[in-house]
Amino acid sequence: MPDTGASALNDKFNAPNAALEASLRPPSFKDFTGQAKTVERLQVMVGAAKQRKEPLNHILLSGPPGLGKTTLALLLGNEMGATVRITSGPVIDKPSDLAGLLTNLEEGDILFIDEIHRISKAVEEYLYSAMEDFRLDILIDQGPNARSVRLSLPRFTLIGATTRTGLLTAPLRSRFTLQTRLDYYSHEQLERIVLRTCKLLDVAIKKDGAREIAARARGTPRIANNLTHFVRDYAQQRSDGVISKDNADAALELLEIDRHGLDEMDKRILRLMAENYKGGPVGLGTIAVAVGEEEHTLEEVHEPFLIQEGYLQRTAQGRTLTDKGWNILGGRKNELF
Ligand SMILES: Nc1ncnc2c1ncn2[C@@H]1O[C@H](COP(=O)(O)OP(=O)(O)OP(=O)(O)O)[C@@H](O)[C@H]1O
Ligand SMILES: [Mg+2]
Repeated sequence: MPDTGASALNDKFNAPNAALEASLRPPSFKDFTGQAKTVERLQVMVGAAKQRKEPLNHILLSGPPGLGKTTLALLLGNEMGATVRITSGPVIDKPSDLAGLLTNLEEGDILFIDEIHRISKAVEEYLYSAMEDFRLDILIDQGPNARSVRLSLPRFTLIGATTRTGLLTAPLRSRFTLQTRLDYYSHEQLERIVLRTCKLLDVAIKKDGAREIAARARGTPRIANNLTHFVRDYAQQRSDGVISKDNADAALELLEIDRHGLDEMDKRILRLMAENYKGGPVGLGTIAVAVGEEEHTLEEVHEPFLIQEGYLQRTAQGRTLTDKGWNILGGRKNELF
């Protein structure tokens, strides 16, 4: 499929700009909007750990991209007054990579492993004893000279982030004291995030402008922030520099961002279900093959949003389109196909 138009633009607007993102990350609980359940769980853990003067227990953060997993890991570092060391699953290839990381930690440090589901099996086994007993048994040499050396590690906190909890093995998952999942943000929460971003960037914005951006950001702060940047540019070039509903509308129209914030893949899924399966029920595997996306990605990135927004339903027989799903495709079942 030619990658022009909305899909390319959406990809572009999903791509994180590291420096900019960092500057917009809420540094403490009081600056962090939404995720009430997760935040309360974390506050309880932070409060108790600080009182006991102990490091935090291990935490697994899961959820679709751009909802705040990295942000929360860094925020926990701030709240605990702990150093956060950042790495990611695919980078830790061999047990010696892990040993290098862990032996460089200091008491109370937080080790943040992004994409922890992509860690190799060989490394994962070593992580078990490191997390549980703060020790590492590594094998030195091979053949007759092989011997195992036990290293004791400082008490550290592992924070893992994953978009796919399903891919984590049960033994690894169970070693996290808290496993908490981030949900999509409501329009009101995103509106607050957009207003905060504009304040930090010193951009003039009207409330209805923030509302418009929030409604079209697919429940995701990263997308909300990225759209805000484009709308700001648009307002500056085509208007008086103030982000209003009209400016936001025109800018998002130019980006071919759906009025409902759906991305190209969301729309392909809905269209496929309507056109080829009369609205379902259709199995997830069938949808995955037809739209050319992995089942896991559909299940963990696209489906939760479509279900939350009420376009799709999960039934025992498979996925079905709801009335709302039919409506945004332009009409009821029998009128259309
Ligand atoms: N609750 C929030 N309040 C304000 N801004 C937020 C919030 N959550 C996330 N953001 C903003 O959204 C951006 C993306 O968040 P973050 O990088 O933490 O997402 P992520 O879950 O780690 O995504 P990925 O899975 O792609 O790594 C950050 O720049 C941050 O500024
Ligand atoms: Mg991240």
